[in-house]
Amino acid sequence: NKSLVSISDYSKEEILHILELAAGFEANPNQPLMRDKVVASLFFEPSTRTRLSFDTAINRLGARVVGFTDASSSSTTKGETLKDTIKMVSNYADMIVMRHPLEGSARYASEQARVPIINAGDGANQHPTQTMLDLYSIQKTQGTLENLTIFMVGDLKYGRTVHSLLMALSLFNPTFYFVAPKEMSMPREYKIFLKEKGIRYFEQFEMGNLEKADILYMTRVQKERFSDPIEYERVKNAYVLKNAMLANTKDNLKVLHPLPRVNEIHPDVDANPKAYYFQQAENGVYTRMAIMSAIMGVK
Ligand code: CP
Repeated sequence: NKSLVSISDYSKEEILHILELAAGFEANPNQPLMRDKVVASLFFEPSTRTRLSFDTAINRLGARVVGFTDASSSSTTKGETLKDTIKMVSNYADMIVMRHPLEGSARYASEQARVPIINAGDGANQHPTQTMLDLYSIQKTQGTLENLTIFMVGDLKYGRTVHSLLMALSLFNPTFYFVAPKEMSMPREYKIFLKEKGIRYFEQFEMGNLEKADILYMTRVQKERFSDPIEYERVKNAYVLKNAMLANTKDNLKVLHPLPRVNEIHPDVDANPKAYYFQQAENGVYTRMAIMSAIMGVK
């Protein structure tokens, strides 16, 4: 029962193995290796990319999918606990993909389930399958994951994608630049994690020093996680990437974003060869095929 709850559940070797499998699925996406499997897809929180790329990956692997896309159509509305839901769905499916608004919910679910749990995002905590596709995108565009300079911009407090990605990249000797207003800065626990590992990071409020970047990882301000709407209004337009800001950046620089975006990347940037976020989302299908087939032991 090998779940993927946090990216730290996987070693460097296991991560590199998943990326290698993903390359194989990109080269040949129709491999019905999971024809006899049923995957439960439980989304207690909205999603476009994660759910649809999982569904696509499940279909391309020849498996079947059951589940719900909206908790309001499930018996959660009648007061059923997460524990009971997971125990029950464990008896229907061979694997559970779950997104939930509460931090720690995926770990809790993995303790209740008889089958592997894949965390498709638990609140502001972790989004490990996004991290796998981010790593795949970085490796594919840079030719390596080692010794890169990574700028993370925007909502570093509530952005679960940057939390997972920071932990994974820490295996590859990165240098980080965290660009965020004080209210959305990288949580202390992640900075302690980096300090303990001896990894360099710099914090700044402005979008300067971009000429040093190999990867510019933009993020959305997570409106749904702010308890104070006035605070959200104050910070929502903190950073807007425009083409002119990419003028003096390295040739190899790629702009990544987990998406959805609101207004933090101007639409004009989409046509810039340094923009990679839509290809990044496509890579989610291949990496999720790799993760599921590895967990099911069919690859
Ligand atoms: N990147 C990501 O998790 O997007 P969705 O919320 O649309 O799944």
